Amino acid sequence: MSIKDYIECAQKDVVATLQQHFDQPLDTEQTIKSATEYGLFNGGKRLRPFLVYATGEMLGAKKQDLDVLAGAIECIHSYSLVHDDLPAMDDDDLRRGRPTCHIEFGEAHAILAGDALQTLAFELIANHQFACSSQTQVKIIAQLAKASGLEGMVGGQSLDIAATNKAVTVQELERIHKLKTGALINCAITLGALCSENADKQTLENLNIFGYAIGLAFQVHDDILDVEGDTIILGKPQGSDIAANKATYPALLGMLGAKEKALNLIQQAHEALAKIDADTSHLASLANYLIERDH
Ligand code: IPE
Ligand code: IPE
Ligand code: MG
Ligand code: MG
Ligand code: MG
Repeated sequence: MSIKDYIECAQKDVVATLQQHFDQPLDTEQTIKSATEYGLFNGGKRLRPFLVYATGEMLGAKKQDLDVLAGAIECIHSYSLVHDDLPAMDDDDLRRGRPTCHIEFGEAHAILAGDALQTLAFELIANHQFACSSQTQVKIIAQLAKASGLEGMVGGQSLDIAATNKAVTVQELERIHKLKTGALINCAITLGALCSENADKQTLENLNIFGYAIGLAFQVHDDILDVEGDTIILGKPQGSDIAANKATYPALLGMLGAKEKALNLIQQAHEALAKIDADTSHLASLANYLIERDH
């Protein structure tokens, strides 16, 4: 199977898990339920779920546990996108090939849908009967909370907004990208590893180096696609960063410099994987895919 086939499997599995939740009778109003589903079931690549599955399966975690973690991290990611597109943030009107949540449902419901997706992530993990210990389950919740919050995605998004229309150094930009995007990508890997209860300290450390390297490379490539991509293929507006005068790698290093940076990071990612005593082939293929993708 090719990496694209494996990603497709992760997509199907995580969507099925999340769909199960929304198929239950939920005691809520239809508008907010629809806005929440709209932000979630809209053809995302589901790369963070793939990372949960690939890492967890590599280390022997239970598939049913990974389904829940994959679903939870995708809820947090989808919430971050719904809020990222809001007029007060990037003010974009296209996401995953469709009008953004606030265009379809209005700003108030887009904010609430993001909030609902965030809490759903923790509800899913808290309500699942894991094969791993409840201590590990709590650790997983704490890791996901930290990666999503002030010291992770939210902190990075705040720095990203502050850096708009300003000159930033490469070090500052690296910090922004590591927080706003790297933290959740790295967390997907950590959750898969923790859930297996088979990862020793060294393995966790190497996975962490791998996670941050691909997380940063992912955002560098996202910046590149903003310049070189195609709106239809991307499913989001090409040129959005340039229009908003965002701090990006191509803006700072030039296109060649940005591409070189992404390549170096993937090289570092492979070096970290080579130190792990397990079959890292799926993670290795994904690392390559991240900087080759066209959307
Ligand atoms: C986009 O993430 C936002 C970033 C962190 C760069 P993805 O490229 O993973 O978006 P989807 O989930 O596939 O739509
Ligand atoms: C978003 O970065 C990172 C998030 C935490 C959502 P971008 O603003 O570059 O993501 P896109 O390009 O809109 O998907
Ligand atoms: Mg943004
Ligand atoms: Mg954006
Ligand atoms: Mg972008």
